Amino acid sequence: MTTSCRGTLAYTVPKLTDYSAAALEKAAGELLSVLKEEADKSWKSETDWKTFRDRWLSRKNGILTLVNDLWLKTAPKEAKRAVGQKVNEIKLEVEHAVEMTEGLQLEWATTSQPASTADSVDISLPGVRRPIGAEHPVMKTWREIVSVFQKLGYSVAEGPVVETDYYNFEALNFPPNHPARDTQDTLFIAGQQSKPQRERLLLRTHTSPVQIRTMEKMRPPIRIVIPGTVHRNDPPDASHSPMFHQIEGLAVDTNITFGDLKGTLDHAMKALFGSSVKTHFRPSFFPFTEPSAELYVTCFICGGSGKRGADPCRPCKQTGWIEVLGCGMVDPNVFEFVKDNGYDPRKVSGFAFGMGVDRLALLKYGVDDLQYFFQGDVRFLQQFG
Ligand code: DAH
Repeated sequence: MTTSCRGTLAYTVPKLTDYSAAALEKAAGELLSVLKEEADKSWKSETDWKTFRDRWLSRKNGILTLVNDLWLKTAPKEAKRAVGQKVNEIKLEVEHAVEMTEGLQLEWATTSQPASTADSVDISLPGVRRPIGAEHPVMKTWREIVSVFQKLGYSVAEGPVVETDYYNFEALNFPPNHPARDTQDTLFIAGQQSKPQRERLLLRTHTSPVQIRTMEKMRPPIRIVIPGTVHRNDPPDASHSPMFHQIEGLAVDTNITFGDLKGTLDHAMKALFGSSVKTHFRPSFFPFTEPSAELYVTCFICGGSGKRGADPCRPCKQTGWIEVLGCGMVDPNVFEFVKDNGYDPRKVSGFAFGMGVDRLALLKYGVDDLQYFFQGDVRFLQQFG
């Protein structure tokens, strides 16, 4: 495409004659690529930016007005809805581009340009719309889970994302060089070979180290939930991400039993997923709990039947059950590490659990690819507004 005047391309909004989805997509694609190219050139001076803004937003002959006149108004009845949606998408993109370039332009102007004096204000131009944000579905789920436990009297604790081997593994009863460490796909901070193993830094692979950190600071009885970010060396795909979120729980007191664990988690699952959900515990293994279990809930997509109409239910792999967390009774070996702060394993007992927030958000909102959560695409996030 040839450049006509500073920063703008020789583009005029075409009349639409063919209103098929493909033709609409093509016309919108061309328009948005012009938008992108012009936006890339429009932020180096206030004049350029204003030309850009007016060309796209001016009420009289701006591109958005023309799109409205030439695409939407003329659309036949049956195409109106689809064209209307597309035009709205375009409008958001244009407003976003104008807003972004304004920000860049102002930054540029204050750092590198003398202020322009030849301003004339066109008060007929629309203002810049600042879209209202929506809470991210992962954060929403995070908050909901935490609040279920807060209502049971739990408090919230947090800990560092960059952790030592001691808190992430050793004090949680992972023996040195034990294969259980491999299941965590740890990301280590480089260049620490000269340090003793327990002092080496890593990105915490779970929120469990904050169990120890909290018990070092607070004497029993305690009831805490620990939300946080964790990292593992997993390539991103539909169900994995190198960064994700967990919520850990820990209750320690005298005479805490597995019955308390079951009752608490059964209540929490009903509060989160609805009172008709059933829970089911299966034996498992974690180094820091004994006995350990995995908690399953009846699939809230198919209600436990394993079927969606005539089709198999995918989220529960047709079993009717979905695994939601790991849990167990705190291993006495873990209490040994904090014994001096009142956690004598002969006197206290406790239970712990840990769940993946992102996974629960996927299930709760019926999203089929974890990556959507981390791409920051406004079109995805808007659905939760
Ligand atoms: N930390 C475990 C993981 O990331 C999850 C977990 C299991 C946490 C059992 C617990 C627990 O507190 O008791 O895989």
